[in-house]
This record gives sequence, structure tokens and C-alpha cells, in this order.
Amino acid sequence: MLIYLGCCAVLAFALAIALALQGVAPAAAAHAAFAVGAMPLVFAAMGHFVPVLTRSGGAVGVVRRLPLVMQWVGLLALGALGGWLPGWVLHGALSMGLVATVVFLVWVLGKGRRALGRPHPGLAWYVAALGCLILALLVIGAGLVWPPAYPLARLAHLHLNTLGFIGLSAIGTLHVLMPTALGRPDSLAAARLTRQLPWMLAGIATAAVAGGLPWLGPVAAVLVGGVVVATLVGWWRAHGWARLSGDGATASLLVASVGLVVLCGAGALHGFALMPGRPAVAGFFAGFLLPLVTGALSQLLPVWRHPGPITPARTRLREILTRQGRLRALLFLLAGPLLLAGQASGAALAAIGVALFALPLLRGLVTRPSRSV
Ligand code: HEM
Ligand code: HEM
Repeated sequence: MLIYLGCCAVLAFALAIALALQGVAPAAAAHAAFAVGAMPLVFAAMGHFVPVLTRSGGAVGVVRRLPLVMQWVGLLALGALGGWLPGWVLHGALSMGLVATVVFLVWVLGKGRRALGRPHPGLAWYVAALGCLILALLVIGAGLVWPPAYPLARLAHLHLNTLGFIGLSAIGTLHVLMPTALGRPDSLAAARLTRQLPWMLAGIATAAVAGGLPWLGPVAAVLVGGVVVATLVGWWRAHGWARLSGDGATASLLVASVGLVVLCGAGALHGFALMPGRPAVAGFFAGFLLPLVTGALSQLLPVWRHPGPITPARTRLREILTRQGRLRALLFLLAGPLLLAGQASGAALAAIGVALFALPLLRGLVTRPSRSV
């Protein structure tokens, strides 16, 4: 299922770019990327990492299938926002998404309680991320049934989801994924996660209410951006730039983090109406989500495809996926600011970057491991 969802996310990203280029309802393109592509994959990645963080067994039964439920939730939301399905379907998607997220959150909390020893601090980031998604869905639901609140509810929904749900799960995972991808430990990662969470939560809460109180925008930008900058400095001290930018997977993860800092700067500006807010959605997609997901999948797909001890087949698949990783990262690094500035050429660079991941992925997954393995 993890491999299936990884491939679906890449397809959803391509669909999002196609919808955006065709000028279909912007909310539809955004949800193709975020709700159809990223949301189920985040659930699947959490299903992979939560047992690692709690030193316990994997998900079973209904919980195992929740990422697929979230995929349906995303598809229904996309259909309704694009006008292909009736409006009431949005309420169905919302309710289904809420129930599934609450069930998943209860599972994560239960895993934390039954952990062998103290759970890794990354777990609290996942709990917070799922809490943000629940809040974001409740808030947009309230806006849908009470139209006067809709404009503010929409702003709270989109900031809680992008900075909160995606941002928290991304940064929480990156602290664990970066040392794994580099194959060297980062003894300060756990302490950093514990120290940063309250600042990150304060930043997300501030950004969510900044829709109504725009002067809070710069405060939120400094809080969220500060956490990401502190993470970058921590990585630099632990690993050095040469190592971080030398590998296709880690270069992507590095670019994603830099992209998030740029977006926080843009958030401070669009909060004060010094630049339009809407391009931030495309900027977030190309400058943060794409390098994040392609970098994370370059590291994780080989493990998911060839679980257990390291084999030559796993190493080969990682090599195929990371070979053009640095070029992809560069394309996304340029595409994000271009799209933020409203330049459509950014979409072309993002599309080339996605193709440079999709083609090796296809090749890597269809190539049979050699007999000598
Ligand atoms: C059940 C799932 C979801 C539902 C029902 C939903 C619903 C909505 C609705 C009704 C809007 C307002 C659209 C408009 O006014 O044009 C919206 C906007 C938005 N949502 Fe969601 N959403 C869901 C999941 C997500 C997720 C998971 C994310 C991101 C991680 C997300 C990010 C956004 C963004 C960025 C916007 C603003 C889009 C724009 O204006 O271009 N949503 N959502
Ligand atoms: C820390 C970072 C951020 C801060 C402080 C921030 C702050 C704000 C504020 C205060 C507003 C309301 C502006 C107004 O009503 O005139 C706003 C609007 C908006 N923001 Fe952000 N934002 C941040 C990041 C993001 C990100 C990452 C995205 C993209 C996913 C985004 C997308 C938007 C959109 C689409 C609007 C509404 C624009 C419109 O429909 O006119 N923001 N933001």
C-alpha cells in the first residue's frame, strides 16, 4: 500500500499541475496536490514511523486501511471543489475525513502510551499534526454551515493544514529521516524536536488567527520560520553542507526546508497585503511539498519495496531514485519563488522536476532485481 500511495501521490501532483495550467478552480488544483496526493501519503508515512518511534508493532486492521480512506476523502473533496460532484459531497468528505483522522489519532496516542520506554519526541509532532487536520476540517465545516464565517474559516483551514498538518508532520519526520538518509546519527535531533514543538505550535496558531488580525502575520512568520532555520542550523552543525547537499535525497529535503523558510517570508508579506496570498499555494506546492515528497520517497520507497536487511536490490533502487535528485531539487528551488512571484514558468520547472522523479520511479519499480542478489 505504501508503494501504491507513493505512486498515487506523484500522479496527483502531475494532475494538480495540469489542473492549474488549465485554469480550473484553483481550490481543485490545490486539493489534487494536498488532499489527494499528500494527505494519504502522510497517513501512510506516519503508519510506518509511529511503530519505529514507539518501538512497537505496525498498524493492523482498520487503521492499516485509513490512508486509503483518506485517499477517498481527498478524491471526493477534489470532485466537489472542481464542480464535478454535487456540493453536498464536500460535507460527506469532511465527515469521513474527521472520523478517520480521529480514529488514527486515537491509535497514535495508544501507541505512545504502550511504547517500550519513553516514545521518541517525534510522536508528539504527529499528534499535533493530526490535531491541526482535525481543527482545519472542523473550521471549514463551520464556515460551510455558517457563511458569514466562511472567509476567515477558509484562511484558518488553509494555514492549519499547510503549516500545521503538513508542516508538523514534515519537520517531525525530517529530524528522523535526514540522519537515516545520510547514514549517520544526529545526537541532538530528539532534544531539538522537544524544544521546537511549543514554538512551532505557537507559530501555527498565530498564522491561523492572523487571517482576522493581519498584524500577527510577521509574528507567525518569525516563529515558524525560526523553527525551520534552527533545524537547518542543527543539520549544518551535525552534518555540514557538503554531506547535506551531496546526496540526491538529502539535497531535496534540504531544499524543501529552505523553501519553507522562503514561504514564511512570503506569508509575512501577503499577510500585510504587500503581495497576493494565492500564489503562496503554488509556491508551497512546488517549493516545499515537491522536494519534500520526492526526497522522502527516494529514501523510503526502496525500504518499503525491499523491507528487512539492506540488499543490493534496495541499494540499486535508491540509486535510481536519487541519481537526478540534486537536479530535481534545483528545479524545485527555482520553481517555488517563480510561482510565488506569479510566473507561470515556475509550473514548467515543477512539471520537469516531477517527470524526473516519475520516470526513474517507473523504471526502478518495473526493473526486476538481478539473480546474483
Ligand atoms: C476533507 C478534506 C478537505 C476538505 C473537505 C477541504 C475543503 C476546503 C474548502 C471548502 C476550501 C475553500 C475553497 C474555496 O473557497 O475556494 C478549501 C481551501 C483550501 N484547502 Fe482544503 N479541504 C480539505 C483538505 C485539505 C488539505 C489536507 C489541505 C492541505 C494540506 C487543504 C488545503 C487547502 C488550501 C491551500 C485551500 C485554499 C485554496 C485556494 O484558495 O487556492 N485542504 N478547502
Ligand atoms: C508563516 C507563514 C504565513 C503567514 C504568517 C500567513 C499569513 C496570512 C495572513 C495574515 C493572511 C490574510 C491576509 C488578508 O486577509 O488580507 C493570509 C492569507 C492567505 N495565505 Fe497565508 N500566511 C502564511 C503562509 C502561507 C502559506 C504557506 C500559504 C500557502 C499554502 C498561504 C496561503 C494564503 C492564502 C491563499 C491566503 C488568502 C489569499 C486570498 O484569498 O486573498 N499562506 N496569510
